[in-house]
Amino acid sequence: SDAPLVDGFGRTIRYLRVSVTDRCDLRCRYCMAEHMTFLPRDRIATLEELAVITERFVARGVRKVRLSGGEPLVRRDVMQLTQRLGRHVGAGLDELTLTTNGTRLAQFAPALVDAGVRRVNVSMDSRDADRFRFITRHGDVAQVLGGIAAAKAAGLRVKINMVALKGLNEDEIAAMLDWCVAEGHDLTLIETMPLGAIDEDRTDRFLPLTAVKERLERTHRLSRDAATTGGPARYWRVDGGATRLGLISPLTANFCDGCNRVRLTTEGRLYTCLGHDDHRDLKAALREGGVPALDAAIADALAAKPRRHDFRIEAGAAPAVARHMSVTGG
Ligand code: GTP
Ligand code: 5AD
Ligand code: SF4
Repeated sequence: SDAPLVDGFGRTIRYLRVSVTDRCDLRCRYCMAEHMTFLPRDRIATLEELAVITERFVARGVRKVRLSGGEPLVRRDVMQLTQRLGRHVGAGLDELTLTTNGTRLAQFAPALVDAGVRRVNVSMDSRDADRFRFITRHGDVAQVLGGIAAAKAAGLRVKINMVALKGLNEDEIAAMLDWCVAEGHDLTLIETMPLGAIDEDRTDRFLPLTAVKERLERTHRLSRDAATTGGPARYWRVDGGATRLGLISPLTANFCDGCNRVRLTTEGRLYTCLGHDDHRDLKAALREGGVPALDAAIADALAAKPRRHDFRIEAGAAPAVARHMSVTGG
């Protein structure tokens, strides 16, 4: 049936995040270890499988699809998937969008616009070249800035994602906000979440956004904006202008009660919560029993969607979940 997707707590699912690859050309310290093991190619769902599964979600009421990764633009056939899903924009889908590290955005921006993408989120935790290199281990911030400029020139709206990191970029947050105001971008700050083993203790870098917001309010007028993008951020208008500051505070202001999302991985698995290991293999269901089996697996997964994550930042504690964010795409 084409009945809407509702979980066991009565939450309706309108947002599907699709991680098209777990690979990435960067190795951000809060996200990945320096040496990562990625999925072998024979475990990865085909473009056709990802498209069929995603289209089933759209038929069942999903209005927003976000391609993520890893870095989505490193998957070879990502534009074919984008073009195919883009046909649903305005006809079922309100929005098809992308979260990217920006390294290949200059190359892809015009094609993304042609495919129906109107807006992208670009991860950039610092605008300082040395710092950016340190945080990402491999990144060249000039390349990302070039990607952002190309996206803007192509007519894409840009939102910058900045993970707030104690001692790494906290002294740069106000300057990043000013730069976003000047460039006409939105800015979202994110609390670091305990997913996957990295080469350091996340506790040392955790910065509560409650404190960050208090500090910003000494220099900027922030007025709460109730409008939402359908994601987890709460927004504030900055100094009465067009720029919005978003805060994603899973640790200090839990937003799970309003959760509207699930996640499809590059393996074709459905994870119903970022903070839990629970998942169903939709690719296997589709291969074995077609759309009826796919629907049954989705129903089964939704019935078991956890109420909330159990993230805590505790010195020495193991990550809440062992898999890295790059597997489920955040
Ligand atoms: P918008 O459409 O612009 O609202 O984007 P978004 O915030 O939904 O997506 P994006 O990929 O930019 O994610 C920003 C951050 O939010 C990432 O760190 C994600 O991991 C995090 N995030 C997204 N959804 C959830 C969620 O359900 N739970 C938690 N804890 N974090 C989430
Ligand atoms: N905690 C919080 N945010 C993270 N991201 C990646 N790993 C983590 C983490 N452990 C961010 C990226 C990107 C978004 C998808 O998630 O910087 O902007
Ligand atoms: Fe890659 Fe994103 Fe992780 Fe950085 S945060 S290593 S860009 S997946």
